Amino acid sequence: MARANDLNGKRALVCGASSGIGRATAMALAQKGARVIALARTEARLVGLTDEINAAFPGEAGYVVADLDDRLALQGIIDSLLGEGGPVHILVNNTGGPPPGQLLDATADDLQTAFSRHVLAAHLLITRFLPGMRECSYGRIVNVISTSVREPIPGLGVSNTIRAAMAGFSKTLSHELPGGVTINNVLPGYTDTERLASLGESIADRTGKTLEEILERWVSNVPEGRLGRPEEVAAAVAFLASPDAGYIRGQSLAVDGGRMKSI
Ligand SMILES: NC(=O)c1ccc[n+]([C@@H]2O[C@H](COP(=O)([O-])OP(=O)(O)OC[C@H]3O[C@@H](n4cnc5c(N)ncnc54)[C@H](OP(=O)(O)O)[C@@H]3O)[C@@H](O)[C@H]2O)c1
Repeated sequence: MARANDLNGKRALVCGASSGIGRATAMALAQKGARVIALARTEARLVGLTDEINAAFPGEAGYVVADLDDRLALQGIIDSLLGEGGPVHILVNNTGGPPPGQLLDATADDLQTAFSRHVLAAHLLITRFLPGMRECSYGRIVNVISTSVREPIPGLGVSNTIRAAMAGFSKTLSHELPGGVTINNVLPGYTDTERLASLGESIADRTGKTLEEILERWVSNVPEGRLGRPEEVAAAVAFLASPDAGYIRGQSLAVDGGRMKSI
């Protein structure tokens, strides 16, 4: 693994790092020189990821097993992270997307769980890491959301609702955070991960179509003519985390192969 040095000396917490976009982001930030802490619930996968990074850059990556739904436990984890290794300069807010379904069929609990996992967890992490970012005059917060921020996706009722909340949250913070600390969003399109596979399977179950037919329909709406790769989304996150992106603030960058029609 070749290494660039843009993020030398920077410490990055990547949430939802055990698979898909989060995993690829952890790798991309490590390649740019950051010391990565990978967060998710599945320890075995985090061990695999950090072993891979540390094989290339010894001692540079660590992990924390955490459930973003459990904010009390998260408080303790944040305390130890800040106590052990100093400030966290880069925070990637990324986590599992809500299950598919019509908004009219969702329960209050479904909405509350999603709000808590996405917005409240991000709020806690940001408010706790901000003093360190401010002190270093370097902070980069990148939220992995969805193109549904601009064009809600049929059949993803809870997800559409929560993504819009995250986008409003992020734009608001972009006006509140101090100079040197930016916040931006990356909006993945159809990206080849476990999440996309499980959404495809659930549509297949509901409609009787095959997974191949569903994939074909998805791809037919993408001018690039293929699914995205997690590494392509990760590259956008890593750029927004870099010093070069210091004047980009409060933006939402779609990585969707050109699928969205809105300007
Ligand atoms: N893939 C796409 O096409 C696509 C498109 C638009 C938006 N997105 C969104 O982008 C985000 C990442 O997508 P992905 O495709 O990479 O998903 P993924 O492969 O399902 O990965 C989700 C990650 O979040 C972690 N996670 C889930 N719930 C968690 C919790 N309560 N606490 C801590 N970690 C948790 C998972 O790890 P553990 O299970 O180990 O905790 C996993 O590492 C999701 O919000 C997704 O909806 C994806």
